Amino acid sequence: MSTVVITGANRGIGLELVKIYAGRGDTVLACCRNPGAATDLAEVAGTVEILETEVSDAKSVAALAESLQSRAVDILINNAGIMGPAPAKQSVQEMDFEGWAETFAVNSMAPVRIMQALMANLRASSDAKLVTITSQMGALSLDMPMAYAYCASKAALNKFMKMAALELGKEGINVCVIHPGWVQTDMGGAAADITPQQSAEGIVKTIDGLNADNNGSFWKWDGETHDW
Ligand SMILES: NC(=O)c1ccc[n+]([C@@H]2O[C@H](COP(=O)([O-])OP(=O)(O)OC[C@H]3O[C@@H](n4cnc5c(N)ncnc54)[C@H](OP(=O)(O)O)[C@@H]3O)[C@@H](O)[C@H]2O)c1
Repeated sequence: MSTVVITGANRGIGLELVKIYAGRGDTVLACCRNPGAATDLAEVAGTVEILETEVSDAKSVAALAESLQSRAVDILINNAGIMGPAPAKQSVQEMDFEGWAETFAVNSMAPVRIMQALMANLRASSDAKLVTITSQMGALSLDMPMAYAYCASKAALNKFMKMAALELGKEGINVCVIHPGWVQTDMGGAAADITPQQSAEGIVKTIDGLNADNNGSFWKWDGETHDW
């Protein structure tokens, strides 16, 4: 059985990931910024510990690490993310720079902050996996000229994790980023291609297949690789 840390665990893809891991008997440390309002998360059956975490806040992330002490973490899933400013305010013509900074804080920097805060916990596992949910919109190989702040935040995240894989792979920690598909969540909207459950099932299967040979990969939710 594994110990799995998931951020943004109270709704969307994160909540479905919690359900799957808890359902198969793993221990889930489910991070969300407002546990009191996380009613769906509180109802998930299994071993689920709900931990208050605002991923872009240094003190909050430090408190998360403190609460874990020397506990081994087998899988860290950086899932929390935001779309950023309104579409018209993150374009070539106009940019809400404060909103862009917030988008970077949550999508690009928070996964790194959490990775560093929980590094000792990952190192305490004999088979550690550091997974970050990215987006195809952060791929340089894909021309999708919209949501510029969001796209740039995921591109920065991808680059960091691709480099981190080179270093952490030497210690046996698999580092990857996964595009979850276009998913019917608050972020993806009702018209999206797949349900959060389908996305989460694919993501978990992909994580199950991580090993030393495929370290540093950019995956799609269905287990195919994605071009950087
Ligand atoms: N849905 C899609 O089609 C799609 C496509 C590509 C990539 N993604 C990526 O998939 C991940 C999950 O997206 P989703 O569709 O499940 O989105 P969602 O339904 O909007 O859920 C986002 C989650 O992130 C949490 N979050 C946001 N900012 C946070 C912060 N500062 N601190 C802590 N938690 C925070 C939210 O918590 P609150 O409830 O407190 O706001 C919520 O739990 C994101 O990284 C997103 O970029 C989604």
